[in-house]
Amino acid sequence: MTITEALRDAAARLTAAGVAQARLESRVLAGDAFGLSRESLLARGDQTARPEDLARLSDLVARRIGGEPTARLLGRQEFWSLEFGLGPETLIPRADSETIVEAALAAIADRDAPLRLVDFGTGSGCLLLALLSELPNAQGLGIDASGETLAVAARNAERLGLAARAEFCPGDWGQGLSGPFDLIVSNPPYIRDGDIAGLATEVARFEPRRALAGGADGLDCYRALAPDIARLLKTGGQAVMEIGQGQVDEVDAIMAAAGLKPAGCRADLAGIVRALSFTR
Ligand SMILES: C[S@@+](CC[C@H](N)C(=O)[O-])C[C@H]1O[C@@H](n2cnc3c(N)ncnc32)[C@H](O)[C@@H]1O
Repeated sequence: MTITEALRDAAARLTAAGVAQARLESRVLAGDAFGLSRESLLARGDQTARPEDLARLSDLVARRIGGEPTARLLGRQEFWSLEFGLGPETLIPRADSETIVEAALAAIADRDAPLRLVDFGTGSGCLLLALLSELPNAQGLGIDASGETLAVAARNAERLGLAARAEFCPGDWGQGLSGPFDLIVSNPPYIRDGDIAGLATEVARFEPRRALAGGADGLDCYRALAPDIARLLKTGGQAVMEIGQGQVDEVDAIMAAAGLKPAGCRADLAGIVRALSFTR
């Protein structure tokens, strides 16, 4: 079978299974299976594919049809135009979360300042490392309850050339941590526990529960984080939190009860308020 025939076959299987953008997905999966760029896939279309590459493509297509997200199959995802490696316990970075990076950068008057950042629930490190890529003199700390995600984040920092300014530590939000920090960011788990099973298979089955589950009302992590943020945020600094759809009022109230003041909000590309900012 040639590479072009294998591509057609993969696209047909994905289409038949109802996978959206099947042709694009087949090219991405084939590129990974054959170790070729998309351009090379086309240029070498007439070549006979190696049996082991065909077997790998067939396996990737089957897993994709089973609902496994493409980023998980490839083990990487782009965020803020940077590539992030993933592990089984890291959430796949979402384009929506770039709103947090935008809101945080908008709050910084001097991007060359020697700022101190912390990212609670850092996962792949996407928020912290995207910010460090824009703030050349900042130092960042990423905290997560999962040791596996911290190892992934540290590898990402290394690959992105940011390791000298990024530290990753295990922790339960801000417990035992000393401030102050100029910038605090967090994308905590905020899905209601009871809603997780009803989410798309890609999320419900293939994202780590610890990255999703926000308790009975989805707000447990904000309640846990609020006093830590109030204690650790520098006067004049900003905290930027990602929230779920419709959580603005509840999260504002939780932060206000901890003594934090609202400092603006920012919507994602779908017009949903995703980022809430706070000061002390
Ligand atoms: C929604 S994910 C966000 C990951 C990443 N920051 C992003 O935006 O893609 C939430 C992260 O919080 C971490 N987490 C959950 N409970 C935690 C806790 N008590 N303390 C620290 N991190 C926690 C999870 O392991 C997960 O990596």
